[in-house]
Amino acid sequence: MDDFKGIKIGIAFTGSFCTYEKIFTALEALAETGADLYPIFSEHAASIDSRFGDSAQFLARAKTLTGKEPILSIPGAEPIGPKSMLDILVIAPCTGNTLSKLANGISDTTVLMAAKSHLRNNRPLVISLSTNDALGMNLKNIGILLNTKNIYFVPFGQDNYQAKPNSMVAHVSLLPDTIRQALDYKQIQPVIVSH
Ligand SMILES: Cc1cc2nc3c(=O)[nH]c(=O)nc-3n(C[C@H](O)[C@H](O)[C@H](O)COP(=O)(O)O)c2cc1C
Repeated sequence: MDDFKGIKIGIAFTGSFCTYEKIFTALEALAETGADLYPIFSEHAASIDSRFGDSAQFLARAKTLTGKEPILSIPGAEPIGPKSMLDILVIAPCTGNTLSKLANGISDTTVLMAAKSHLRNNRPLVISLSTNDALGMNLKNIGILLNTKNIYFVPFGQDNYQAKPNSMVAHVSLLPDTIRQALDYKQIQPVIVSH
């Protein structure tokens, strides 16, 4: 894998809990190459316990992995832009909820505030999508963000078209390559890749 030594990467978790295991595995690989990771959690990500695990365990795992206290509030996320804290911000996993709000300029969660604050510096933002309504209610919002300056997508595809015909999920294994290209303000291609 590429060397990410010293690159400051914000990792913003939102409430797609089924993808956390894959995301943590990818983050561990990034950390091994020297990436300086900053964990950020949405209010729902920080508080919902589900069959995929307890929020306290995910928070603890993020802290152990990054060596930093997770950012858990809008005031905590606000300095990201003014202090130029991050080279790149990655929302992974990104829910349909967060995606739709971002596309519409809403900043009412910790993760959305982090995104707004970071984007003001004209720095890249990566989205690792995971939502059951990608080809439904949220397709228009994906379209908006694909066409928005400084926003890049981890390649994504339909993960189970028979049982969940509108669902699309990112290929998390492509996260490092997507980040590398986004740091050069390029969208990795192809964007749509089958599972
Ligand atoms: C167990 C569980 C799994 C969920 N998985 C997803 C998911 O994969 N994708 C998604 O968009 N929303 C998922 N949700 C719904 C989100 O958590 C919910 O929309 C929440 O409001 C997201 O808030 P956030 O985007 O601020 O984190 C899930 C909810 C629960 C309880």
